Amino acid sequence: MTSQSPAPAPAKTYHVKSFGCQMNVYDSERMGDLLSAEGLTSVATPEAADVVVLNTCHIREKAAEKLYSDIGRLRQPRADGRRPTIVAAGCVAQAEGAEIAARAPAVDVIVGPLAYHRLPELLKQAQTGRAVDIDMPLVPKFDSLPQRRIAQASAFLTVQEGCDKFCTFCVVPYTRGPETSRPAADLIGEAQALVACGVKEITLLGQNVNAYAGGLSLAGLIRALADIDGLERIRYTTSHPRDMHDDLIAAHVEVAKLMPYLHLPVQSGSSRMLKAMNRAHTRESYLATLERLRAARPDIALSGDFIVGFPGETEADFEDTLSIVRQVQYAAAYSFKYSIRPGTPAATMADQVPEAVKDERLARLQAAIAEASLAFNRSTIGRRCTVLLERPGRKPGQLIGKTPWLQSAVVSIPGAAIGDLVAVNIVGAGPNSVEAVPVSPPARESAAA
Ligand code: 5AD
Ligand code: SF4
Repeated sequence: MTSQSPAPAPAKTYHVKSFGCQMNVYDSERMGDLLSAEGLTSVATPEAADVVVLNTCHIREKAAEKLYSDIGRLRQPRADGRRPTIVAAGCVAQAEGAEIAARAPAVDVIVGPLAYHRLPELLKQAQTGRAVDIDMPLVPKFDSLPQRRIAQASAFLTVQEGCDKFCTFCVVPYTRGPETSRPAADLIGEAQALVACGVKEITLLGQNVNAYAGGLSLAGLIRALADIDGLERIRYTTSHPRDMHDDLIAAHVEVAKLMPYLHLPVQSGSSRMLKAMNRAHTRESYLATLERLRAARPDIALSGDFIVGFPGETEADFEDTLSIVRQVQYAAAYSFKYSIRPGTPAATMADQVPEAVKDERLARLQAAIAEASLAFNRSTIGRRCTVLLERPGRKPGQLIGKTPWLQSAVVSIPGAAIGDLVAVNIVGAGPNSVEAVPVSPPARESAAA
């Protein structure tokens, strides 16, 4: 171990802290499964844990800084003079393993997102000195993970990892490696195991989930999963506009369990910026894809990601982004200030946009997105649908769940419990949620909207 910091406590409990995307949430759960299989018990806070896994995100600069501030806190001796064993996992570990080793001597294990199946072994190794694995092995980690045990109604399932698209702003192709898909048979098995634990909704995850090619296409996989009795809802994220093929659009019409929601990042409304970003689509081709989708499934809810202040972005380019938000009427959208990522092509492009301009554009974009979300929520008032109840609401008797369009819905249904799929009418709408009342008499029904 290191000379500066106190010795780690014996490993009996663990806590996995997840930063960033849903794929990290999935990976965090799987690291938890590995540690549980080793006999460690999960605890709710890092302060109470003997082993703390920081599952990091590298997508923007701020995400990486959080790792170092957490390590700073965790390395302090506790009341018994010990500190936890600290594991730096995820994409910052992959991209900056050597820097972490130099800058944070208290870190005991450094493990990348493609090697975390080796976590138990690395923890053993760390008893005699820091253990590092940031390889991108050919043997997929998924083959050596234990059976999943999950107690939620809704679960993530990673079906595809990595990215071959090389958008000029993005680190993912470097941290998660090339696109790889898990075999469909493995995924069907994992989904069946989840459903046996009571899971009713599965969200299929991938950096480019609609590029899935594991023996079946994504549409084929969705159709196969829809045959699992007890699985009520299927979702998938994140999709690339370039891979939005007709068979997937057809699945949105034909597979009742596939929810009418699509996260399809556009990044910018300006074709000039999209070219500089190497997005392989234009504003026009993106809008044409949405038209095909809406023609097939008129009620589909759309969401997207946006970057403001990409190098060279002018006010006119930015106004194209505002106009696409108004034109598409997104149900939800995520917006980010461009963040320089060392090693990516955009990092060294001329005409970097000043921070103050990025701030101002982000505020205007977020106002336009909020307006679109509210309009979308209002447009659903009067619809009858199902809600999958996920957590208690603020007031007694209230429960919060998700509509087919991924809105948070607040409902009060006597006798209903978390995990139930209930039939409701939407009666009110705010910017971030809708209000729903039970269809009387209260009844459970299939997930079809
Ligand atoms: N700066 C800002 N946002 C970024 N994203 C990816 N890379 C960057 C970056 N360098 C955003 C994109 C992507 C989402 C996951 O994060 O919008 O779709
Ligand atoms: Fe990053 Fe672009 Fe790949 Fe998405 S498609 S993960 S933004 S490189």
